[in-house]
Amino acid sequence: MRTTLIITICLLSLFALGVSCSEDSKDCSSTEEQIQKPLNPNGDSELALLMRAMFDEAQRIKKQIANNEPVTLTLDHDKILTAHATEPEKAASEEYKAFAAAYLQTIESLETASQAQIIDVYDGMINNCMTCHKALCPGPMARIKNLQ
Ligand code: HEC
Repeated sequence: MRTTLIITICLLSLFALGVSCSEDSKDCSSTEEQIQKPLNPNGDSELALLMRAMFDEAQRIKKQIANNEPVTLTLDHDKILTAHATEPEKAASEEYKAFAAAYLQTIESLETASQAQIIDVYDGMINNCMTCHKALCPGPMARIKNLQ
């Protein structure tokens, strides 16, 4: 009788733990949720919206390169340093800032690269998306892989 009670309590608390963990990390850990989430529901952070725009921009640049067209940038990528994040402490970390600086550097190179260099610079940029995500926000990695 007693054992049953203890087991029940254990199971219940495990369940509660599981729910709160997935709740806490929904923005960065669950790929499926990311894809199925409607664009712009209330509560999306400024950084999350910027990231989606960056994803679209990278997709467009990939097409431009494939079609031998000049690459165009439409976003203010520097906002990656200031946009408000779902988990502000993450974006405030030294690690995040270093990854962001590396990313911004490849964006700058995209603007000046010759046609011959552009594919390598593009690959480098997507690698920078990946390195930061691998360290801080693994959820969208499967999506980012599609940009390679
Ligand atoms: C310096 C680190 C860093 C770099 C570089 C970076 N990301 Fe992110 N990304 C994040 C963080 C942190 C979040 C979580 C944002 C939030 O919820 O506030 C995120 C979220 C996302 C999301 C999910 C947005 C949503 O719908 O909630 C996508 C997609 C994404 N990033 C794609 C990219 C792409 C594509 C690139 C490169 C062009 C990139 N990221 C570069 C840190 C980074």
